[in-house]
Amino acid sequence: MAASVPSPSPADKFTFGLWTVGWQARDPFGDATRPALDPVDAVHGLAERGAYGVTFHDDDLIPFGSDEAAREQHIARFRKALDETGLRVPMVTTNLFTHPVFKDGAFTANDRGVRRFALRKVMRNLDLAAELGAHTYVFWGGREGAESDAAKDVRAALDRYREGLDLLASYVQDRGYDIRFAIEPKPNEPRGDILLPTIGHALAFINTLDHADMVGLNPEVGHEQMAGLNFVHGIAQALWHGKLFHIDLNGQRGAKFDQDLVFGHGDLLNAFFLVDLLENGAGGVPAYEGPRHFDYKPARTEDFTGVWESASANMRTYLLLKERAAAFRADPEVVEALAAARVGELAQTTLASGESYADLLADRSAFEEFDVDAAAERGAGFVRLNQLAVEHLLGAR
Ligand code: GCO
Ligand code: MN
Ligand code: MN
Repeated sequence: MAASVPSPSPADKFTFGLWTVGWQARDPFGDATRPALDPVDAVHGLAERGAYGVTFHDDDLIPFGSDEAAREQHIARFRKALDETGLRVPMVTTNLFTHPVFKDGAFTANDRGVRRFALRKVMRNLDLAAELGAHTYVFWGGREGAESDAAKDVRAALDRYREGLDLLASYVQDRGYDIRFAIEPKPNEPRGDILLPTIGHALAFINTLDHADMVGLNPEVGHEQMAGLNFVHGIAQALWHGKLFHIDLNGQRGAKFDQDLVFGHGDLLNAFFLVDLLENGAGGVPAYEGPRHFDYKPARTEDFTGVWESASANMRTYLLLKERAAAFRADPEVVEALAAARVGELAQTTLASGESYADLLADRSAFEEFDVDAAAERGAGFVRLNQLAVEHLLGAR
């Protein structure tokens, strides 16, 4: 490892899903290229590389359909690995998408029996999440959607989605679990169109929930980019609403299938500004304190050596970007360019405190005497600022 690359440690709060390093690389066109990875080995492998925690879907740990005795055994082995390594479980989620029973969704399946089964599956796993000390429970509704507009009453589906989350939130509260929910938006894949496709849709939906304050977001880099959206803007808005409960970091190259690349292996400049926002976005201190969770898929071409290289690559890239972002913020030329671009000025209210619209109307300098031509002619200096970021990112400064 090059001396200039920082090494990850648990203090960095890097976490990984069992389904990431454990992905066997089965895709719609080809079979698995790697054998299964025992969750116990995943825990040890992640801990050795400096991760802080591990997350999982119920079925990643306990194969679907396991009986009670087998279930207990899987959990016991996993707990032992956690105890041996000190790895934490900050987040848990449910697999409501692999088994064919969920082919038309879980909380929003037309079949009411499937909806009731899905709720029971989540409740069972919420108990386990609480036992393992998780504070975040993710809801990724990959199968909640449709391919045919005739086949899904979207308004009824949103009613059922809300009914499901309201019920599960009251379950968590009644049990006294210290758990918050995080909805993960995605525009499509596996369904042709998925409900709550973007951060914005999910934020609006959350506002309608009975326990809205215990529900936030788990945005994923690639999912917003699949919809052609700017992830940094989405995260900034989620922060602005106080709803960034968790984050899925990975890479994506444009509007195409969900690539789940290594973090930074897609839009690197957007990743730089994302890390800058997370780490320095609250006036030079982190705007987000939760786990830095990698939800990526080690490329199908890789063997286990490549899998572990890719796990480390996520963390190394994050730390390098954090370093580069700190250098960007500390550079006097950047400070000067930010001032020239009036970036800080946007934090000033448009009207002075106590000023009314009557005062604004009476202020001739605001309109009658405002030099429109001078303001229109003035260059903004934004390109210079962006280039300074690029040069820091490239290590040229
Ligand atoms: C995806 C999703 C999933 C979910 C995960 C949590 O890539 O489509 O990110 O990986 O995050 O299944 O439920
Ligand atoms: Mn994804
Ligand atoms: Mn994800």
